[in-house]
Amino acid sequence: MFKGKDIVAISDLTREEMERVFEVAREMIPIAKGEKKSELLRGYILANLFFEPSTRTRMSFEAAMYRLGGKVLGFTNPSSTSLSKGETLADTIRMVDAYSDVIVIRHPLEGSARLAAEFAENPVINAGDGAGQHPTQTLLDIFTIVQEFGHVEGLKITLVGDLRYGRTVHSLAIALSYLGAEIHLVSPRTLKMPKHIIREMKTEPEVHERIEDVIRDSDVFYVTRIQKERFPDPTEYMKVAGSYVISGDMVKKMKESAIIMHPLPRVDEITPDVDRTKHARYFQQAFYGVPIRMALLALVLGVV
Ligand code: NCD
Repeated sequence: MFKGKDIVAISDLTREEMERVFEVAREMIPIAKGEKKSELLRGYILANLFFEPSTRTRMSFEAAMYRLGGKVLGFTNPSSTSLSKGETLADTIRMVDAYSDVIVIRHPLEGSARLAAEFAENPVINAGDGAGQHPTQTLLDIFTIVQEFGHVEGLKITLVGDLRYGRTVHSLAIALSYLGAEIHLVSPRTLKMPKHIIREMKTEPEVHERIEDVIRDSDVFYVTRIQKERFPDPTEYMKVAGSYVISGDMVKKMKESAIIMHPLPRVDEITPDVDRTKHARYFQQAFYGVPIRMALLALVLGVV
């Protein structure tokens, strides 16, 4: 059911398919840690096309491929490619499709991954399209929650920060609503969750302007960076920069069992003293990017 599948939006996966990803990801954990060796993807090539900066997403796709014995080609600096000569994305994709077995693409324009998927025969995985979606991040985010609590249903999950331009929260809010979470949104008024995302959600989220409103009873805080690079006007950015900061003092008000997540990179949304508290899960979350991407690659390549 997975072989050859494009993963562009989180809605490309059914609940059963998501559960299958998690099942395979659990088996991949010892391989992701390097404790067990695997040659599952030997002979396969991943093309990593990064038209926008990335650390974790790109490196975890690479680590995933290498840990499974596969190979990676690609670029991180599009100005060094023929795109700078005026080549269209469609032509680049058609060519890369012939050089590899699976394509991962990150691009500043919303809709670019869908376009790539239309031109490529091989599976295309969206690693973030502008302010659009970031489905593989959502899978690792939900995996982190499931590993922690055993389920998503009924949990009170608060998404904090730039809900307008942050693509991770777009895919995540949709998926969480279908999995039965109670969703709370906290953002400056100018950075609210877009209406088209709310329309795609199965349940209506509760909207707040202050973290204090939800600090005592949330099970999960999912904190995001203000997406400075997507602001049309830098003075608008200055107005909201530093709006929501999770500090060591705030953490004391949280439930004992509450966890704090962040897709990273963080700027100043979570102060470093929070890292030492039992609530911090963002580094664990970043590690889960490797087994989740191993599972996805193995599934779309049809080897599991
Ligand atoms: C996120 C992204 O690129 O959307 N990073 C990531 O993939 N972990 C979040 C961000 O850049 O703020």
